[in-house]
Amino acid sequence: MDPSIPILIYPDPALRARARSVATADRATLREVLPRMFAAMYAAPGIGLAAPQVGLALRFCVIDLMPDDQKAPLTLINPQIVAASADLVTREEGCLSLPNQYADVIRPDGIRVQYQDLDGKSHRLDAEGLLATCIQHEIDHLDGVLFIDHISALKRNMLVRRLAKEQRQARGA
Ligand code: NI
Repeated sequence: MDPSIPILIYPDPALRARARSVATADRATLREVLPRMFAAMYAAPGIGLAAPQVGLALRFCVIDLMPDDQKAPLTLINPQIVAASADLVTREEGCLSLPNQYADVIRPDGIRVQYQDLDGKSHRLDAEGLLATCIQHEIDHLDGVLFIDHISALKRNMLVRRLAKEQRQARGA
């Protein structure tokens, strides 16, 4: 059996829902689904995957930038950005829910994020560079926001049309 879990593709409406906070009663669900989310993310391959992308309207995500090609899995539960740098950076982003589509997005270069682990313990992380971009992108997913919401309507329409066409072709239609 495939241990991974299917990733929803834009414009699936589940990608636009606002997720609710993870409660203690959700932890069993998380323990079951987290390994499958990591498996799906590594198989894609991708560096981040948020719960709404696998149809779960809960505030958590998985991230792994694979530094030096080594696994460094990070699970953020109920993540919140508590501070952001004034410095902005432009970085090309993609998303496993919009396969093969990329666009430049401007975001704060550094952030401080507060989150919980599976045991409910709180953590604080200062991130910059690619990790900061990735965390902001994943937290956006928890609010139903996609990277294409950060680009011009013209670019967004172009990208969405191209994705639809590629998806049609992939289905052999
Ligand atoms: Ni994404």
